[in-house]
Amino acid sequence: MEFSDIHSHILYHTDDGPKTKEEMFLLADKMYEEGVRHLCLTSHFHPGFYGNNTSQKSLAFDTLLAYVTQKYPDMKLYPGNELYYSPDCVSWLHEGLCQTLNHSRYVLVDFSHHASYREISDGLKNLLSSGYIPILAHTERYRLSLKQIASLKQLGVLIQLNAQSILGEAGFLLKYQTKKILSERLCDFVATDTHDLTYRPPKMKPCYLHIKKHYGISYADFICKEHALELILQDSSGRK
Ligand SMILES: [Fe+2]
Repeated sequence: MEFSDIHSHILYHTDDGPKTKEEMFLLADKMYEEGVRHLCLTSHFHPGFYGNNTSQKSLAFDTLLAYVTQKYPDMKLYPGNELYYSPDCVSWLHEGLCQTLNHSRYVLVDFSHHASYREISDGLKNLLSSGYIPILAHTERYRLSLKQIASLKQLGVLIQLNAQSILGEAGFLLKYQTKKILSERLCDFVATDTHDLTYRPPKMKPCYLHIKKHYGISYADFICKEHALELILQDSSGRK
């Protein structure tokens, strides 16, 4: 099984993911074991908390790339960020302070968990009107109705869910929300959002099997493999 993961925190010493190179390598090993072959490295970009660490991020990326290239030649890595939304984020993107997914127009973005639909919708419209395609990270965490999620998708926003939430490892409420979103086929991507091996490990394989069982193989393939790969393989102009 070859999965594509567009949301992970594996680069050491760049955010709340691994602190050491060794932990980073163990997470990459686990990712490979889970069947992930295309992996976006999306350290948090949240000024005041995370970010402004370009040199460490690129050192960690190069270190992981060397490890993976030697040990797992069929595993591919791609740069990115998980951007915490702020009205200034468009200028951060233009200036290259934070990165889109593999230099595409796609931006993985999150908001405060308490953000209202209006705040989320306005922020996403700001990114869209600036030429970016936002992917709303772990959409299940926000207090959005299915109608509101469908409205965001109509605007051109893409929806990402976390594997652990789908599997029920992040609590009943998040599992319930993912179930509703999946039932309506509103999800575009499943990702691990992995941070460590203990509390937030990569769970692509069991999640894929769960989705396949409950929602069918074609939808499972689309949201765990194909859609993300299509996105990753686009060039920087956004065209394939
Ligand atoms: Fe994340």
